[in-house]
Amino acid sequence: MKNSSDYHIAPTYSRQPLTPVRGKGMYLWDSQGRRYTDFVGGVAVCSLGHSHPTLTKAICTQAKKLMHVSNLYRIKPQEELATLLARVTPKSIGKFFFCNSGAEAVEGAFKLAVKHTKRSRIIAMKGSFHGRTIATVGATWNPPYRKPFEMVIPQIFDFVPFDDLSAVERVIGDRTAAVVVEPVQGEGGVNVPSEDFLPGLKKLCDEYGAILICDEVQTGIGRTGKWFACQHWGVNPDELTMAKALGGGFPIGCLGARNEVMRSFSPGDHASTFGGNPLACEAAKAVIRVMKKENLPRRAAKLGRYFKRRLVELAEKHPQVEDVRGLGLLVGMELSERRFAEILVEMSRKEGYLINRTAEKVLRFTPPLIVEKKDIDGLVEVMDKILIGIT
Ligand SMILES: Cc1ncc(COP(=O)(O)O)c(C=O)c1O
Repeated sequence: MKNSSDYHIAPTYSRQPLTPVRGKGMYLWDSQGRRYTDFVGGVAVCSLGHSHPTLTKAICTQAKKLMHVSNLYRIKPQEELATLLARVTPKSIGKFFFCNSGAEAVEGAFKLAVKHTKRSRIIAMKGSFHGRTIATVGATWNPPYRKPFEMVIPQIFDFVPFDDLSAVERVIGDRTAAVVVEPVQGEGGVNVPSEDFLPGLKKLCDEYGAILICDEVQTGIGRTGKWFACQHWGVNPDELTMAKALGGGFPIGCLGARNEVMRSFSPGDHASTFGGNPLACEAAKAVIRVMKKENLPRRAAKLGRYFKRRLVELAEKHPQVEDVRGLGLLVGMELSERRFAEILVEMSRKEGYLINRTAEKVLRFTPPLIVEKKDIDGLVEVMDKILIGIT
């Protein structure tokens, strides 16, 4: 296979037989010129749709001016982006550290919590996903991701069931630096907690002097119908991580924190060469501008309700569909067997719709927030036909 064109690529992903070469709005085109309606959106990244003209223009304009200078200097687009973020993040969050990915943001969140509290244990949730670096994979529940590296993972994580306050209460104590939680679990199968979970977590953290880290790498920047999912429950976290949709496809991650918490970092405690470079920050500024102008968080709430309603219709018709859940445009449909989910992914692709499977048998839909009812109707019709044919 030495002459196969993917020979030199690390075997870390099982890839679908598809090579997208161009995108516009909800659509992707492959190398054969076939068009697909994209309900994956680069896994919750391309929230403005593909090649949004405002984002493309911002990137091209800044690329011609200045791409990178390092954080040895003041960076105007970084300061402007932080100001914009301060307006849309929960009111507790006042300072921002910029990096390049979700895992890097979560790593920073752990370091900051440890430095601030001078404590060493972190409570994480079963079903969680926080990244693939040594520390973040340590906080990630899925054993196949974590186990092969167990011997080098810091033994600082206590796992408790998601959405179970009494389990947290049993574990939390004066050694707890932080509780890390996705307000809605994405990779874990689109799990939405009950009403009192997030507020209860915050209360417990305050009681024990621990940091509440809301990992909004997947749920943040409008996906769930608010700028940040924790805002559905009026929760003000001590630290907030984001990435994915922040750059609309351009890599950028960010750790936000309460002012007094972020002040625990001094020069030299944490850094990132590329973090917050002018190019990435101009991209993120454009994303926030478009999100505001087109009121995309509100649109996500509305279209998410419609999408779920249509999927519930499928569930009522087809016994293979076990559950429909989600918040805004982070939508999950659980099948009774893994193979049904796999068949749906493959056959939908053949019918021109890209969808994604996670947590064994859950279809996780994370379309661009510009998705229209007709796109949803088209996908539901295709899945309806597929489900009729599989038993
Ligand atoms: C909640 C959450 N945290 C962290 C990450 C890791 O982000 P990245 O892949 O950018 O490192 C992800 C990625 O899916 C995520 O969903």
